[in-house]
Amino acid sequence: MQKNEPLLKLENIHVSFPVKKDYPFQKKRFVRAVSDVSLEVFEGETFGLVGESGCGKSTLANTTLGIQKVDSGKIFFDGQELTAMNKKQLNEARRKMQMIFQDPFSSLNPRFSVFDIVSEPLRILGGYTREQMREQAAEMLREVGLSEGDLDRFPSDFSGGQKQRIGIARALILKPKYLVCDEPVSALDVSVHAQILNLLMDLQEKYNITYLFISHNLAVVKRICSRLLVMYFGKTMEYGDVDKIFANPVHPYTRALMSAVFDTDIDSKHERIRLQGEVPSPINPPPGCRFCGRCPEEEPFCKQGEPPLVEIEENHFVSCFKYAKPKTEE
Ligand SMILES: Nc1ncnc2c1ncn2[C@@H]1O[C@H](COP(=O)(O)OP(=O)(O)O)[C@@H](O)[C@H]1O
Ligand SMILES: [Mg+2]
Repeated sequence: MQKNEPLLKLENIHVSFPVKKDYPFQKKRFVRAVSDVSLEVFEGETFGLVGESGCGKSTLANTTLGIQKVDSGKIFFDGQELTAMNKKQLNEARRKMQMIFQDPFSSLNPRFSVFDIVSEPLRILGGYTREQMREQAAEMLREVGLSEGDLDRFPSDFSGGQKQRIGIARALILKPKYLVCDEPVSALDVSVHAQILNLLMDLQEKYNITYLFISHNLAVVKRICSRLLVMYFGKTMEYGDVDKIFANPVHPYTRALMSAVFDTDIDSKHERIRLQGEVPSPINPPPGCRFCGRCPEEEPFCKQGEPPLVEIEENHFVSCFKYAKPKTEE
């Protein structure tokens, strides 16, 4: 699956958002949404980004689309540095990238027909006749399991699963190389999850699209992703091949996430772990490992600095002091 050069490469990405002041002259505060994340996504693979709500998944994904500016760090896409592009170059690069949204109910404008919605990327690009746009939109609808007859209907005529299919048709009409799927099924009825995921997998194979797949559901990630990054409060906890991480989850946070999902699977090897403690404030987080306060295996030295990301086996990295004790302890 992996080719030599990644399609997408993130190097030490930091993103923060200023927080509104509670009173004048208050010191400037920032939400550290993404802190020092590096990763590689290879052509044709499905890369999973996992973590609890608010840990920075969408912010990180938006940086890869050039929608979200980074404070520092570099992003390379298809051999070019995205973070060094001017507006024109960025628009050009964005043609190869698309996203589908978590909530198909609010992401489709109810006053636009399905044709308007699906053909919008062609209209923005320009140079297509109405007939050409209708033809391409009809073809995309067939690809996602809808029909040409749906072109003149409106979003309200469709179920949640069908709305997400419309969103997928819209995202794929320009035949992108790279697609961000930001929790694409979490707003949908459980009964349609498998259908939508299967559709995404079929389309990936047909068009050789690379997916960044955001989810908080590890069962789904295990099924469809080849590699994975587990995020907690803006930082990488564990990163690498899905098979290796699932066979040998080493970070206490990954293990806690897994034990919550795979009751039977994991319980034979690990005890069920319940996360305790308060979620720390993302505003000016305290020094030390971000998982301190909730980690069942916390040691006194864990507050002394941030654990580095260490490769514990080939293509399997973890950021935990269990695998790299702080220097003062050595
Ligand atoms: N535009 C924004 N302005 C201020 N804070 C933001 C903005 N977008 C996200 N955040 C904050 O950044 C953190 C990460 O958010 P997000 O990337 O949406 O997480 P996730 O997608 O994992 O749920 C959260 O604390 C969130 O409140
Ligand atoms: Mg999100």
